[in-house]
Amino acid sequence: MSSISSVAFSRFAPVKRGSVYVLSAEEAGMGRETLKCVPGKTLDRALSVADFTGKFGTLADVLAPHGTPLDKITAVGAGAVSALNEHAWMKLGGIIAGSLAKTSEAAIILDLPDSEIAAADVANVAAGALLRSYAFDKYKTRTSNGDSESDAGKKKDTKLTLLCADPAAAKKAFVAAQATVNGVLLARDLVNEPANILGPAEFAARIKALEALGVRVEILTEKEMKKAGMGALLGVAQGSPRGARLAVMQWNGGKAKDKPIAFVGKGVTFDTGGNSMKSASGMEDMKGDMGGAAAVTGLMHALAARKAKTNVVGIVGLVENAVDGYAQRPGDIVTSMSGQTIEVLNTDAEGRLVLADALWYCNERFQPRFMINLATLTGAIMVALGQHHAGLFSNNDELAARLVEAGTATQEKLWRMPLGNEYDKLLESKNADMKNIGGRYGGAITAAQFLQRFVKDTPWAHLDIAGTAMGAPSSEINASWGSGFGVRLLDRLVHDHYES
Ligand code: BES
Ligand code: MN
Ligand code: ZN
Repeated sequence: MSSISSVAFSRFAPVKRGSVYVLSAEEAGMGRETLKCVPGKTLDRALSVADFTGKFGTLADVLAPHGTPLDKITAVGAGAVSALNEHAWMKLGGIIAGSLAKTSEAAIILDLPDSEIAAADVANVAAGALLRSYAFDKYKTRTSNGDSESDAGKKKDTKLTLLCADPAAAKKAFVAAQATVNGVLLARDLVNEPANILGPAEFAARIKALEALGVRVEILTEKEMKKAGMGALLGVAQGSPRGARLAVMQWNGGKAKDKPIAFVGKGVTFDTGGNSMKSASGMEDMKGDMGGAAAVTGLMHALAARKAKTNVVGIVGLVENAVDGYAQRPGDIVTSMSGQTIEVLNTDAEGRLVLADALWYCNERFQPRFMINLATLTGAIMVALGQHHAGLFSNNDELAARLVEAGTATQEKLWRMPLGNEYDKLLESKNADMKNIGGRYGGAITAAQFLQRFVKDTPWAHLDIAGTAMGAPSSEINASWGSGFGVRLLDRLVHDHYES
Protein backbone atom coordinates (compact mmCIF):
# COMPACT_ATOMS: atom_id res chain seq x y z
CA MET A 1 0.00 0.00 0.00
CA SER A 2 1.08 3.50 -0.54
CA SER A 3 0.51 6.90 0.98
CA ILE A 4 0.43 10.22 -0.81
CA SER A 5 3.37 12.44 0.09
CA SER A 6 2.57 15.36 -2.20
CA VAL A 7 -0.23 16.63 -4.43
CA ALA A 8 0.37 18.86 -7.44
CA PHE A 9 -1.86 20.27 -10.19
CA SER A 10 -0.76 20.71 -13.74
CA ARG A 11 -1.96 21.29 -17.34
CA PHE A 12 -2.71 18.33 -19.57
CA ALA A 13 0.54 16.96 -20.99
CA PRO A 14 1.78 13.52 -21.97
CA VAL A 15 2.78 11.56 -18.88
CA LYS A 16 6.34 10.27 -18.90
CA ARG A 17 6.64 7.89 -15.99
CA GLY A 18 4.92 6.07 -13.17
CA SER A 19 1.23 5.20 -13.17
CA VAL A 20 -1.51 7.06 -15.01
CA TYR A 21 -5.19 7.06 -14.21
CA VAL A 22 -7.68 7.98 -16.92
CA LEU A 23 -11.40 8.50 -16.50
CA SER A 24 -13.89 6.77 -18.71
CA ALA A 25 -17.56 7.67 -18.78
CA GLU A 26 -20.03 4.85 -19.04
CA GLU A 27 -21.67 5.90 -22.31
CA ALA A 28 -19.02 8.14 -23.78
CA GLY A 29 -15.58 6.73 -23.01
CA MET A 30 -12.53 8.94 -22.57
CA GLY A 31 -12.02 12.62 -23.32
CA ARG A 32 -9.89 14.05 -26.07
CA GLU A 33 -7.20 15.42 -23.74
CA THR A 34 -6.77 11.95 -22.33
CA LEU A 35 -6.17 10.51 -25.76
CA LYS A 36 -3.49 13.15 -26.33
CA CYS A 37 -1.74 12.39 -23.04
CA VAL A 38 -2.03 8.61 -23.18
CA PRO A 39 -2.09 6.80 -26.51
CA GLY A 40 -5.63 5.43 -26.71
CA LYS A 41 -4.55 2.47 -28.81
CA THR A 42 -2.57 1.06 -25.91
CA LEU A 43 -5.82 0.89 -23.99
CA ASP A 44 -8.59 -0.12 -26.37
CA ARG A 45 -7.85 -3.82 -26.63
CA ALA A 46 -6.95 -4.22 -22.95
CA LEU A 47 -10.19 -2.57 -21.87
CA SER A 48 -12.32 -4.71 -24.09
CA VAL A 49 -10.55 -7.87 -22.93
CA ALA A 50 -11.14 -6.78 -19.33
CA ASP A 51 -14.86 -6.18 -20.02
CA PHE A 52 -14.42 -2.64 -18.78
CA THR A 53 -17.55 -0.58 -19.42
CA GLY A 54 -16.85 2.57 -17.43
CA LYS A 55 -19.27 1.65 -14.63
CA PHE A 56 -18.70 3.97 -11.67
CA GLY A 57 -15.82 2.93 -9.47
CA THR A 58 -14.55 0.04 -11.58
CA LEU A 59 -10.87 -0.14 -12.49
CA ALA A 60 -8.98 -1.82 -15.32
CA ASP A 61 -5.19 -1.99 -15.21
CA VAL A 62 -2.83 -2.25 -18.12
CA LEU A 63 0.56 -3.13 -16.68
CA ALA A 64 3.79 -1.98 -18.36
CA PRO A 65 1.83 -0.94 -21.46
CA HIS A 66 3.66 -1.70 -24.67
CA GLY A 67 5.13 1.31 -26.49
CA THR A 68 5.06 3.65 -23.49
CA PRO A 69 7.52 4.40 -20.66
CA LEU A 70 4.72 3.98 -18.10
CA ASP A 71 4.46 1.42 -15.31
CA LYS A 72 0.70 1.19 -15.51
CA ILE A 73 -2.32 2.77 -17.11
CA THR A 74 -5.53 2.38 -15.15
CA ALA A 75 -8.92 3.19 -16.57
CA VAL A 76 -11.29 4.44 -13.89
CA GLY A 77 -15.02 4.08 -14.46
CA ALA A 78 -16.72 7.44 -13.92
CA GLY A 79 -20.20 6.05 -14.55
CA ALA A 80 -22.85 8.39 -15.90
CA VAL A 81 -21.36 11.87 -16.08
CA SER A 82 -24.65 13.52 -15.01
CA ALA A 83 -24.52 11.57 -11.71
CA LEU A 84 -21.09 12.88 -10.70
CA ASN A 85 -21.78 14.97 -7.59
CA GLU A 86 -19.13 16.26 -5.21
CA HIS A 87 -19.06 13.14 -3.11
CA ALA A 88 -18.75 10.93 -6.19
CA TRP A 89 -15.64 12.87 -7.18
CA MET A 90 -14.22 12.39 -3.72
CA LYS A 91 -14.93 8.67 -3.96
CA LEU A 92 -13.14 8.45 -7.30
CA GLY A 93 -10.07 10.01 -5.70
CA GLY A 94 -10.33 7.49 -2.90
CA ILE A 95 -10.73 4.53 -5.22
CA ILE A 96 -7.66 5.63 -7.16
CA ALA A 97 -5.61 6.08 -4.00
CA GLY A 98 -6.66 2.62 -2.88
CA SER A 99 -5.09 1.13 -6.00
CA LEU A 100 -1.78 3.02 -6.02
CA ALA A 101 0.22 0.02 -4.78
CA LYS A 102 3.97 0.62 -4.92
CA THR A 103 4.01 3.44 -7.45
CA SER A 104 6.28 6.31 -6.47
CA GLU A 105 4.65 8.66 -9.00
CA ALA A 106 1.07 8.75 -10.20
CA ALA A 107 -0.90 11.08 -12.43
CA ILE A 108 -4.66 11.40 -12.79
CA ILE A 109 -5.92 12.88 -16.03
CA LEU A 110 -9.12 14.70 -15.13
CA ASP A 111 -10.85 14.86 -18.44
CA LEU A 112 -14.15 13.54 -19.80
CA PRO A 113 -15.79 13.87 -23.19
CA ASP A 114 -17.88 17.01 -23.70
CA SER A 115 -17.74 18.21 -20.11
CA GLU A 116 -15.45 20.49 -18.20
CA ILE A 117 -14.53 19.19 -14.76
CA ALA A 118 -14.91 22.00 -12.21
CA ALA A 119 -11.90 23.10 -10.18
CA ALA A 120 -13.79 22.23 -6.99
CA ASP A 121 -14.22 18.67 -8.22
CA VAL A 122 -10.56 18.34 -9.09
CA ALA A 123 -9.92 19.38 -5.49
CA ASN A 124 -12.48 16.80 -4.34
CA VAL A 125 -10.57 14.06 -6.15
CA ALA A 126 -7.38 15.13 -4.40
CA ALA A 127 -9.17 15.29 -1.05
CA GLY A 128 -10.65 11.82 -1.51
CA ALA A 129 -7.25 10.44 -2.42
CA LEU A 130 -5.62 11.93 0.67
CA LEU A 131 -8.39 10.67 2.94
CA ARG A 132 -8.11 7.16 1.56
CA SER A 133 -4.33 7.04 1.65
CA TYR A 134 -4.20 7.82 5.37
CA ALA A 135 -2.90 4.98 7.48
CA PHE A 136 -2.14 4.94 11.18
CA ASP A 137 1.24 3.29 10.79
CA LYS A 138 3.46 5.37 13.05
CA TYR A 139 4.13 2.34 15.25
CA LYS A 140 5.04 0.08 12.33
CA THR A 141 8.81 -0.15 12.15
CA ARG A 142 8.90 -2.28 8.98
CA THR A 143 7.67 -1.64 5.44
CA SER A 144 5.59 -4.26 3.64
CA ASN A 145 7.59 -6.92 1.89
CA GLY A 146 5.36 -6.65 -1.13
CA ASP A 147 4.21 -10.26 -1.23
CA SER A 148 1.10 -9.64 0.71
CA GLU A 149 -2.06 -7.78 -0.18
CA SER A 150 -2.58 -6.92 3.44
CA ASP A 151 -1.76 -3.68 5.14
CA ALA A 152 0.91 -5.22 7.35
CA GLY A 153 3.76 -2.76 7.28
CA LYS A 154 4.30 0.90 6.65
CA LYS A 155 3.07 2.45 3.42
CA LYS A 156 5.38 3.68 0.68
CA ASP A 157 5.24 7.28 -0.53
CA THR A 158 3.65 8.36 -3.80
CA LYS A 159 3.77 11.77 -5.48
CA LEU A 160 0.38 12.52 -7.00
CA THR A 161 -0.22 14.92 -9.89
CA LEU A 162 -3.67 15.90 -11.13
CA LEU A 163 -3.78 16.98 -14.76
CA CYS A 164 -6.67 19.32 -15.45
CA ALA A 165 -7.88 22.23 -17.57
CA ASP A 166 -7.25 24.96 -15.00
CA PRO A 167 -4.57 23.92 -12.51
CA ALA A 168 -4.40 27.36 -10.87
CA ALA A 169 -8.11 27.27 -10.05
CA ALA A 170 -7.85 23.67 -8.84
CA LYS A 171 -4.94 24.55 -6.59
CA LYS A 172 -6.95 27.38 -5.09
CA ALA A 173 -9.97 25.14 -4.48
CA PHE A 174 -7.67 22.59 -2.91
CA VAL A 175 -6.51 25.00 -0.19
CA ALA A 176 -9.89 24.88 1.56
CA ALA A 177 -10.39 21.19 0.81
CA GLN A 178 -7.00 20.40 2.29
CA ALA A 179 -7.82 22.29 5.48
CA THR A 180 -10.84 20.06 5.95
CA VAL A 181 -8.89 16.92 5.06
CA ASN A 182 -6.22 17.78 7.61
CA GLY A 183 -8.93 18.26 10.21
CA VAL A 184 -10.25 14.77 9.46
CA LEU A 185 -6.76 13.28 9.59
CA LEU A 186 -6.10 14.97 12.93
CA ALA A 187 -9.32 13.47 14.30
CA ARG A 188 -8.36 10.02 13.00
CA ASP A 189 -4.89 10.27 14.54
CA LEU A 190 -6.41 11.14 17.91
CA VAL A 191 -8.93 8.29 17.77
CA ASN A 192 -6.35 5.72 16.66
CA GLU A 193 -3.75 6.68 19.24
CA PRO A 194 -3.63 4.16 22.10
CA ALA A 195 -4.61 5.29 25.58
CA ASN A 196 -1.16 4.76 27.09
CA ILE A 197 0.10 7.50 24.78
CA LEU A 198 -2.96 9.73 24.74
CA GLY A 199 -4.45 10.54 28.12
CA PRO A 200 -6.27 13.76 29.03
CA ALA A 201 -3.10 15.82 29.44
CA GLU A 202 -1.57 14.58 26.20
CA PHE A 203 -4.82 15.22 24.33
CA ALA A 204 -4.88 18.73 25.77
CA ALA A 205 -1.31 19.28 24.57
CA ARG A 206 -2.33 18.33 21.03
CA ILE A 207 -5.17 20.83 21.26
CA LYS A 208 -2.76 23.50 22.43
CA ALA A 209 -0.91 23.06 19.12
CA LEU A 210 -3.95 24.59 17.35
CA GLU A 211 -2.71 27.95 18.61
CA ALA A 212 -0.35 27.93 15.63
CA LEU A 213 -3.45 28.30 13.41
CA GLY A 214 -4.79 31.22 15.43
CA VAL A 215 -7.13 29.25 17.68
CA ARG A 216 -7.35 30.54 21.25
CA VAL A 217 -6.87 27.61 23.61
CA GLU A 218 -7.47 27.41 27.35
CA ILE A 219 -6.91 24.23 29.32
CA LEU A 220 -8.76 23.99 32.62
CA THR A 221 -7.18 21.75 35.22
CA GLU A 222 -9.00 19.73 37.87
CA LYS A 223 -8.50 22.50 40.39
CA GLU A 224 -10.26 25.01 38.15
CA MET A 225 -13.03 22.57 37.32
CA LYS A 226 -13.57 21.89 40.99
CA LYS A 227 -13.90 25.60 41.61
CA ALA A 228 -16.48 25.79 38.82
CA GLY A 229 -18.41 22.95 40.49
CA MET A 230 -18.04 20.30 37.82
CA GLY A 231 -18.79 17.40 40.14
CA ALA A 232 -20.24 15.18 37.42
CA LEU A 233 -17.17 15.31 35.19
CA LEU A 234 -14.75 15.05 38.10
CA GLY A 235 -16.57 12.06 39.54
CA VAL A 236 -15.71 10.13 36.39
CA ALA A 237 -12.08 11.22 36.54
CA GLN A 238 -11.47 10.34 40.17
CA GLY A 239 -10.61 6.69 39.56
CA SER A 240 -7.64 7.53 37.37
CA PRO A 241 -4.25 8.89 38.36
CA ARG A 242 -4.32 10.87 35.12
CA GLY A 243 -6.00 14.17 35.87
CA ALA A 244 -8.96 15.45 33.86
CA ARG A 245 -8.81 18.50 31.58
CA LEU A 246 -11.40 20.71 29.97
CA ALA A 247 -10.16 22.29 26.76
CA VAL A 248 -11.79 25.46 25.46
CA MET A 249 -10.98 26.41 21.87
CA GLN A 250 -12.09 29.64 20.24
CA TRP A 251 -11.88 30.59 16.60
CA ASN A 252 -13.02 34.15 16.00
CA GLY A 253 -13.27 34.49 12.24
CA GLY A 254 -16.61 36.33 12.32
CA LYS A 255 -17.76 39.75 13.43
CA ALA A 256 -16.84 40.67 17.00
CA LYS A 257 -20.47 41.20 18.03
CA ASP A 258 -21.71 37.86 16.67
CA LYS A 259 -22.49 35.17 19.21
CA PRO A 260 -20.50 32.01 18.62
CA ILE A 261 -21.73 28.64 17.54
CA ALA A 262 -20.49 25.83 19.79
CA PHE A 263 -19.35 22.24 19.52
CA VAL A 264 -18.84 20.04 22.56
CA GLY A 265 -17.13 16.66 22.61
CA LYS A 266 -16.93 13.61 24.85
CA GLY A 267 -13.27 12.91 25.43
CA VAL A 268 -13.00 9.74 27.49
CA THR A 269 -9.45 8.74 26.59
CA PHE A 270 -10.16 5.24 27.83
CA ASP A 271 -13.39 3.76 29.17
CA THR A 272 -12.94 0.71 31.36
CA GLY A 273 -16.46 1.18 32.64
CA GLY A 274 -15.10 1.99 36.10
CA ASN A 275 -16.48 -0.10 38.95
CA SER A 276 -19.34 -1.17 36.67
CA MET A 277 -16.57 -2.65 34.61
CA LYS A 278 -16.87 -3.65 30.98
CA SER A 279 -16.11 -7.20 29.96
CA ALA A 280 -12.66 -7.88 28.53
CA SER A 281 -13.70 -8.73 25.01
CA GLY A 282 -13.43 -5.69 22.78
CA MET A 283 -12.48 -3.37 25.61
CA GLU A 284 -9.48 -2.21 23.56
CA ASP A 285 -11.93 -0.30 21.37
CA MET A 286 -12.51 2.05 24.28
CA LYS A 287 -9.32 3.90 23.38
CA GLY A 288 -11.63 5.51 20.84
CA ASP A 289 -14.13 6.75 23.42
CA MET A 290 -12.83 10.26 22.75
CA GLY A 291 -14.14 10.25 19.16
CA GLY A 292 -16.45 13.17 19.91
CA ALA A 293 -13.61 15.26 21.30
CA ALA A 294 -11.45 14.26 18.34
CA ALA A 295 -14.12 15.43 15.91
CA VAL A 296 -14.46 18.78 17.69
CA THR A 297 -10.67 19.22 17.65
CA GLY A 298 -10.44 18.24 13.98
CA LEU A 299 -13.29 20.61 13.16
CA MET A 300 -11.59 23.52 14.93
CA HIS A 301 -8.44 22.72 12.97
CA ALA A 302 -10.37 22.69 9.69
CA LEU A 303 -12.23 25.94 10.39
CA ALA A 304 -9.11 27.79 11.49
CA ALA A 305 -6.98 26.42 8.65
CA ARG A 306 -9.49 27.58 6.05
CA LYS A 307 -10.12 30.81 7.98
CA ALA A 308 -13.87 30.29 8.26
CA LYS A 309 -15.75 33.56 8.64
CA THR A 310 -17.53 32.73 11.84
CA ASN A 311 -17.09 32.68 15.59
CA VAL A 312 -16.81 29.16 16.96
CA VAL A 313 -16.26 27.64 20.36
CA GLY A 314 -15.06 24.06 20.78
CA ILE A 315 -15.14 22.47 24.22
CA VAL A 316 -14.02 18.98 25.09
CA GLY A 317 -14.14 17.18 28.42
CA LEU A 318 -11.08 14.96 28.74
CA VAL A 319 -11.06 12.18 31.35
CA GLU A 320 -9.98 8.60 31.76
CA ASN A 321 -12.70 6.34 33.16
CA ALA A 322 -10.44 4.02 35.12
CA VAL A 323 -10.81 2.16 38.37
CA ASP A 324 -8.69 2.41 41.48
CA GLY A 325 -9.54 2.69 45.15
CA TYR A 326 -10.78 6.23 44.64
CA ALA A 327 -13.05 5.42 41.72
CA GLN A 328 -16.69 6.35 42.09
CA ARG A 329 -19.09 3.59 43.06
CA PRO A 330 -22.57 2.71 41.85
CA GLY A 331 -24.94 4.63 44.09
CA ASP A 332 -22.67 7.63 44.54
CA ILE A 333 -24.43 10.97 44.23
CA VAL A 334 -22.60 13.82 42.53
CA THR A 335 -23.52 17.48 42.11
CA SER A 336 -23.14 18.84 38.60
CA MET A 337 -22.13 22.39 37.76
CA SER A 338 -25.80 23.15 37.07
CA GLY A 339 -26.60 22.32 40.70
CA GLN A 340 -28.63 19.28 39.67
CA THR A 341 -27.68 16.14 41.56
CA ILE A 342 -27.10 12.80 39.85
CA GLU A 343 -27.23 9.31 41.30
CA VAL A 344 -24.56 7.35 39.46
CA LEU A 345 -26.18 3.92 39.21
CA ASN A 346 -23.76 2.73 36.55
CA THR A 347 -20.22 4.09 36.36
CA ASP A 348 -20.05 2.94 32.72
CA ALA A 349 -22.63 5.56 31.75
CA GLU A 350 -19.87 8.13 32.17
CA GLY A 351 -19.96 10.06 28.91
CA ARG A 352 -23.19 11.81 29.83
CA LEU A 353 -21.67 12.85 33.16
CA VAL A 354 -18.73 14.45 31.38
CA LEU A 355 -20.97 16.17 28.86
CA ALA A 356 -23.43 17.41 31.50
CA ASP A 357 -20.78 19.74 32.90
CA ALA A 358 -19.15 20.56 29.56
CA LEU A 359 -22.51 21.55 28.02
CA TRP A 360 -23.56 23.58 31.04
CA TYR A 361 -20.24 25.40 31.16
CA CYS A 362 -20.40 26.14 27.43
CA ASN A 363 -23.92 27.50 27.64
CA GLU A 364 -23.29 29.66 30.72
CA ARG A 365 -20.03 31.13 29.54
CA PHE A 366 -20.73 31.72 25.85
CA GLN A 367 -24.53 31.82 25.38
CA PRO A 368 -23.96 30.28 21.96
CA ARG A 369 -26.39 30.41 19.02
CA PHE A 370 -26.51 26.64 19.25
CA MET A 371 -24.61 23.76 20.79
CA ILE A 372 -23.88 20.54 18.97
CA ASN A 373 -22.30 17.79 21.01
CA LEU A 374 -20.65 14.66 19.65
CA ALA A 375 -20.12 11.54 21.70
CA THR A 376 -19.44 7.84 21.42
CA LEU A 377 -22.22 7.67 23.96
CA THR A 378 -24.09 4.38 23.76
CA GLY A 379 -23.86 0.85 22.47
CA ALA A 380 -27.63 1.17 22.05
CA ILE A 381 -27.28 3.54 19.08
CA MET A 382 -25.36 0.79 17.27
CA VAL A 383 -28.16 -1.65 17.97
CA ALA A 384 -30.65 0.86 16.58
CA LEU A 385 -28.80 2.22 13.54
CA GLY A 386 -25.82 -0.02 12.85
CA GLN A 387 -22.68 1.70 11.66
CA HIS A 388 -23.89 3.66 8.65
CA HIS A 389 -25.79 6.44 10.40
CA ALA A 390 -25.02 8.37 13.55
CA GLY A 391 -27.96 9.11 15.83
CA LEU A 392 -29.21 12.69 15.83
CA PHE A 393 -31.23 14.06 18.73
CA SER A 394 -32.31 17.68 18.79
CA ASN A 395 -34.64 20.16 20.44
CA ASN A 396 -34.65 22.27 17.27
CA ASP A 397 -36.14 21.22 13.93
CA GLU A 398 -34.22 23.74 11.83
CA LEU A 399 -30.86 22.73 13.25
CA ALA A 400 -31.77 19.05 12.87
CA ALA A 401 -32.81 19.51 9.23
CA ARG A 402 -29.60 21.35 8.41
CA LEU A 403 -27.56 18.60 10.02
CA VAL A 404 -29.35 15.88 8.10
CA GLU A 405 -28.76 17.81 4.87
CA ALA A 406 -25.04 18.26 5.60
CA GLY A 407 -24.92 14.55 6.37
CA THR A 408 -26.33 13.68 2.98
CA ALA A 409 -23.91 16.00 1.18
CA THR A 410 -20.84 14.62 2.96
CA GLN A 411 -22.14 11.06 3.31
CA GLU A 412 -21.55 11.30 7.04
CA LYS A 413 -25.13 10.30 7.47
CA LEU A 414 -27.44 11.10 10.36
CA TRP A 415 -30.74 9.60 11.37
CA ARG A 416 -33.00 11.61 13.63
CA MET A 417 -34.17 9.88 16.77
CA PRO A 418 -36.97 10.94 19.11
CA LEU A 419 -36.92 12.85 22.38
CA GLY A 420 -39.91 13.13 24.68
CA ASN A 421 -41.23 13.43 28.21
CA GLU A 422 -42.09 9.76 28.44
CA TYR A 423 -38.43 8.93 28.00
CA ASP A 424 -37.28 11.70 30.30
CA LYS A 425 -39.33 10.20 33.14
CA LEU A 426 -37.19 7.07 32.98
CA LEU A 427 -34.36 9.08 34.54
CA GLU A 428 -36.20 9.79 37.79
CA SER A 429 -34.21 8.78 40.84
CA LYS A 430 -35.30 7.90 44.37
CA ASN A 431 -32.36 9.66 45.95
CA ALA A 432 -31.29 12.51 43.69
CA ASP A 433 -32.61 14.79 40.93
CA MET A 434 -31.91 12.08 38.36
CA LYS A 435 -30.07 8.85 37.81
CA ASN A 436 -27.54 8.36 35.05
CA ILE A 437 -29.23 5.39 33.37
CA GLY A 438 -32.74 4.74 32.07
CA GLY A 439 -34.27 1.30 31.86
CA ARG A 440 -33.48 -1.59 29.60
CA TYR A 441 -35.10 -0.07 26.50
CA GLY A 442 -34.28 2.99 24.42
CA GLY A 443 -30.79 3.38 25.85
CA ALA A 444 -29.62 5.89 23.26
CA ILE A 445 -32.74 7.99 23.84
CA THR A 446 -32.53 8.09 27.63
CA ALA A 447 -28.87 9.09 27.27
CA ALA A 448 -29.95 11.98 25.04
CA GLN A 449 -32.71 12.94 27.51
CA PHE A 450 -30.07 13.10 30.20
CA LEU A 451 -27.98 15.53 28.15
CA GLN A 452 -31.00 17.68 27.38
CA ARG A 453 -31.32 18.45 31.09
CA PHE A 454 -28.11 20.48 30.79
CA VAL A 455 -28.82 22.69 27.77
CA LYS A 456 -31.78 24.82 28.93
CA ASP A 457 -33.57 26.29 25.85
CA THR A 458 -30.49 26.75 23.71
CA PRO A 459 -30.89 25.14 20.28
CA TRP A 460 -29.01 21.89 20.70
CA ALA A 461 -28.21 18.70 18.87
CA HIS A 462 -26.55 15.55 20.15
CA LEU A 463 -24.81 13.22 17.71
CA ASP A 464 -24.30 9.72 19.07
CA ILE A 465 -21.32 8.56 17.00
CA ALA A 466 -20.54 5.31 18.85
CA GLY A 467 -21.13 3.31 15.65
CA THR A 468 -19.50 5.64 13.15
CA ALA A 469 -16.42 7.14 14.83
CA MET A 470 -14.47 3.92 15.01
CA GLY A 471 -14.49 0.41 13.67
CA ALA A 472 -17.04 1.24 10.99
CA PRO A 473 -16.74 -0.66 7.71
CA SER A 474 -14.08 0.90 5.49
CA SER A 475 -15.24 3.06 2.62
CA GLU A 476 -13.83 4.52 -0.59
CA ILE A 477 -12.38 7.40 1.41
CA ASN A 478 -11.49 5.69 4.66
CA ALA A 479 -9.46 2.60 5.41
CA SER A 480 -8.67 3.57 9.01
CA TRP A 481 -10.24 2.28 12.23
CA GLY A 482 -10.75 5.81 13.47
CA SER A 483 -12.85 7.48 10.79
CA GLY A 484 -12.78 11.13 11.84
CA PHE A 485 -16.58 11.08 11.55
CA GLY A 486 -18.17 14.48 12.11
CA VAL A 487 -15.42 16.76 10.85
CA ARG A 488 -16.55 16.93 7.22
CA LEU A 489 -20.19 16.95 8.31
CA LEU A 490 -19.86 19.93 10.64
CA ASP A 491 -17.40 21.80 8.46
CA ARG A 492 -20.06 21.56 5.78
CA LEU A 493 -22.83 22.69 8.13
CA VAL A 494 -20.80 25.74 9.12
CA HIS A 495 -19.86 26.51 5.53
CA ASP A 496 -23.44 26.30 4.26
CA HIS A 497 -25.24 28.17 7.03
CA TYR A 498 -23.06 29.97 9.54
CA GLU A 499 -20.42 31.97 7.70
CA SER A 500 -20.80 35.66 6.99
N1 BES B 1 -18.36 4.44 25.58
C1 BES B 1 -19.49 3.65 25.84
C2 BES B 1 -20.39 3.46 24.62
C3 BES B 1 -19.78 2.70 23.48
C4 BES B 1 -19.95 1.34 23.37
C5 BES B 1 -19.11 3.36 22.48
C6 BES B 1 -19.40 0.65 22.31
C7 BES B 1 -18.57 2.67 21.41
C8 BES B 1 -18.71 1.32 21.33
C9 BES B 1 -20.32 4.29 26.94
O1 BES B 1 -19.62 4.98 27.90
C10 BES B 1 -21.03 3.18 27.64
O2 BES B 1 -20.37 2.40 28.26
N2 BES B 1 -22.35 3.16 27.55
C11 BES B 1 -23.12 2.14 28.16
C12 BES B 1 -24.28 2.82 28.85
C13 BES B 1 -25.05 1.92 29.77
C14 BES B 1 -24.20 1.56 30.95
C15 BES B 1 -26.30 2.63 30.20
C16 BES B 1 -23.60 1.20 27.08
O3 BES B 1 -23.88 1.66 25.96
O4 BES B 1 -23.65 0.01 27.34
MN1 MN C 1 -18.93 3.75 29.44
ZN1 ZN D 1 -17.82 5.75 27.29
